[in-house]
Amino acid sequence: MSKIPFGPTYDEMLHPEHQDPAVRKLAEKALRENELDPINLFNITWKNGGNGEVRKIVLPKALTGVDANIVVMLGKYFPSGSHKVGPAYATLIEGCVDGTILPGKHTILGPSTGNFGIGVSYITNLMKYDAIVIMPDNMSKERYERIRKYGAKLDLTPGSESDVILTLERTYELKKDPKNATLAQFELLPNYRFHRYVTGNSAIEAVKGIGNGRIACFASAPGSAGTLAAGDEIKKMFPECKIAALEPHECSTLTNGGLGQHRIEGIGDKMCTLIHNILTTDFIVQIHDDDCVRGLEVIHSGTDVLVQHGVDPKIAESMKELFGVSGICNILGAIKMAKYLKLGPNDNIVTIATDGFDRYDSVIDNLRHRELEVTDHVLDRWFSDVFVETDTSRILDTRGDAAKEKLFQQKEKDWLKFGYSKEYLDSMRHPEFWEKEYAKIKTYDEKIKAIRGKEI
Ligand SMILES: Cc1ncc(COP(=O)(O)O)c(C=O)c1O
Repeated sequence: MSKIPFGPTYDEMLHPEHQDPAVRKLAEKALRENELDPINLFNITWKNGGNGEVRKIVLPKALTGVDANIVVMLGKYFPSGSHKVGPAYATLIEGCVDGTILPGKHTILGPSTGNFGIGVSYITNLMKYDAIVIMPDNMSKERYERIRKYGAKLDLTPGSESDVILTLERTYELKKDPKNATLAQFELLPNYRFHRYVTGNSAIEAVKGIGNGRIACFASAPGSAGTLAAGDEIKKMFPECKIAALEPHECSTLTNGGLGQHRIEGIGDKMCTLIHNILTTDFIVQIHDDDCVRGLEVIHSGTDVLVQHGVDPKIAESMKELFGVSGICNILGAIKMAKYLKLGPNDNIVTIATDGFDRYDSVIDNLRHRELEVTDHVLDRWFSDVFVETDTSRILDTRGDAAKEKLFQQKEKDWLKFGYSKEYLDSMRHPEFWEKEYAKIKTYDEKIKAIRGKEI
């Protein structure tokens, strides 16, 4: 018998103000003082403890070169340093209240390319489960250090970001042992539920008071495609909203089945994930991987260059730590879509920075090693090439039936081999599938409340 770990409902993650005030107070304190206090589960939210606002930055137009407002929601302030802790928690708590993932009985498996693995090792530490993170052996070293720090074991498979299929195969091997329970981010719907409900509604709140207060486009690069699900909720509220899925030009699986190595950690995993709602994806946009790494270096080290180009010095300084490589990819996708959709100063595009700079020092060291000389002159050139001069090439409109069919076929190719039936995959071709899955939030919230603090 163990005590059920005590954590928030979906509603309490979207609305921390609905949490018990005493819990909220302790959670705020723990956020500042002790990241391994289990009360931090209540800090899994996009909202700032102080004013209750969604943590975001509206990018300076001197950087984006477009009239539309690009609003970036900031994932680095979540416990463990990225919003991926949200889906990790949602998947674990759903399994827990369903009685399929039990503390003391199950070891948690977390297939990942990094941030989800960090999230899994973090919440399993807080909720007292043993965990194994299965990930490629060639990701940024900061990721392994964090996972070890939080106490999960690492099981490494060969390769890098786009070799995530090897991690899935390894997970399927380990899963044969009934003692192991998988938090399968690419396959399980809690990831969809968390992002559609918590991230989607937070995005809707984030644009209040900006431009026309609506969202014209949501741009996000799928790894698991969990974050992309925020778009489904945004589209419900603002039917004109276009959803753009971004992928590396070097691994253009969604555009044309292309497979290749790339440098944008966390996205472009050589597949159409099971939980990707193809029905609502309007555009697929390719972004060059090195543009993202160079863009990150411009923002992190090129404060003077940004200021020379008209960015407010305080804002330039404040942006240094806010983004990782995939955050820059999302920003570049948002700029492309603003140009493509010809959006004006009243229009808002929302995108996401999954994590911050803290896990990319080694990626920047590698860039500097490859480029030999990164002077202000070079940063100035990259500022223009990467941001302001972004063009509208490599945008695929996927609203037509033929484009959707191609994506459905990619999904079949990727998932029939893991034992999912054609019938199940076909059921995802209908909006009812997604609505039914989404509606389960209410039941899960009731179950989480009912089971809090009890023994199982
Ligand atoms: C750095 C980074 N960016 C983007 C993503 C993609 O997010 P999602 O899995 O929700 O599609 C991930 C996922 O792990 C990530 O780690």
